[in-house]
Amino acid sequence: MPLKIERNDITKMKVDAIVNAANSSLLGGGGVDGAIHRAAGPGLLKECIKLNGCETGDAKITKGYNLPCRYVIHTVGPIWSGGGQGEEKLLVSCYRKSLELAKKHHCESVAFPLISSGVYGYPKDQALRVAVGAIREFLAENEMTVTLVIFDRASYTIGEQLFDSISEYIDDRYAAGHTTYYDTDRKQRMAAESLSFFRTQEAEAQGPDDFGLSEVSGPDNSGSPEASGPDHFGGPQAPEVRRIGSPEAFKSGMLFNGMSSKPCGAPVPDLKDRIGQLDESFSGMLLRKIEEEGMTDAECYKKANIDRKLFSKIRSDVHYRPSKQTAIAFALALGLDLNETKEMLEKAGYALSHSSKFDIIIEYFIEQKHYDVFDINEALFNFDQPLLGA
Ligand code: APR
Repeated sequence: MPLKIERNDITKMKVDAIVNAANSSLLGGGGVDGAIHRAAGPGLLKECIKLNGCETGDAKITKGYNLPCRYVIHTVGPIWSGGGQGEEKLLVSCYRKSLELAKKHHCESVAFPLISSGVYGYPKDQALRVAVGAIREFLAENEMTVTLVIFDRASYTIGEQLFDSISEYIDDRYAAGHTTYYDTDRKQRMAAESLSFFRTQEAEAQGPDDFGLSEVSGPDNSGSPEASGPDHFGGPQAPEVRRIGSPEAFKSGMLFNGMSSKPCGAPVPDLKDRIGQLDESFSGMLLRKIEEEGMTDAECYKKANIDRKLFSKIRSDVHYRPSKQTAIAFALALGLDLNETKEMLEKAGYALSHSSKFDIIIEYFIEQKHYDVFDINEALFNFDQPLLGA
């Protein structure tokens, strides 16, 4: 994942370079500066003395000494004075100069604190926006893994208005997602699960007895999944789950047909014919959509916060099974609406569900037609959810 956001102590990061939010003397101080000097040991200060300080917005590099990183890049952020003294330009320069220095020293991984957002008083949500903006601009032209390290919850905020709006959206749906057991999403999820089951069986099918599809039959055995309780197979009050993968079931044509769990009753076409009629795969739809949108591969995977190596793997394997975060990241990078996103997810064997905060937040941004994966990651991080990309 080219740009990550992570809760951690930057002095613990095992990366090629960590960035220090220093002051212009480069002789140490409080906050992250003090933590880095303490962890690095006296050698760091000795080298810093020879650097003769550093201008605001500029960056200088030293060795990492006792830290688990090769280099420390010292940059001096602007002191916030209301926003009218060129603070944003100077803060952008801190990230840009630090990244250029890291690149010059062949660093493949760099970790940043939120520069100027502590003692220097830069409003935290603006400090975050500037950081993400400057880093993604660099990543648009360069390959590197950059981590924004958040030391304490208080130093991270996405802005009250956005936070409240997402929280309200979640509250309206999350509760609902936890009370109804059967909803349209569930049908799609079951269809997606049966499709993905087909896909796995495609590789392993030895014949009827390997067809491990399970029929979910409600308490009245009507075959309709009406049970209440947790929204997953096999939950405490989940309906009885009978495997219809047995040879008898297979011969009698009981096959989960995706949109309902009632055995369809019709004779099951030959397994091999059926597998031969597989729908377009996830990567097939992805590559088709990239072409239809007139995007280059690089534009798409960079917008999706996906690294080039993973994209090449997906491009070369028609049956590649991405993680849910990866599949959604591509759907957003392509600007797909909610239905097309669900269609793309289904091809990877996933569904969006109102029993998942992560899914609801994704749905929120798609409804708002806000497809910026990096913005969405800031919100996901704020709600302690996994990030998009890989
Ligand atoms: N790991 C990661 N981030 C940290 C750590 C840590 N160990 N300690 C603090 N931070 C975070 C803070 O939570 C804040 O979000 O680093 C961010 C920057 O805060 P400061 O360290 O106060 O740096 P800054 O606001 O740029 O002020 C720089 O403070 O420490 C002095 O000598 C430094 O004079 C300079 C000024």
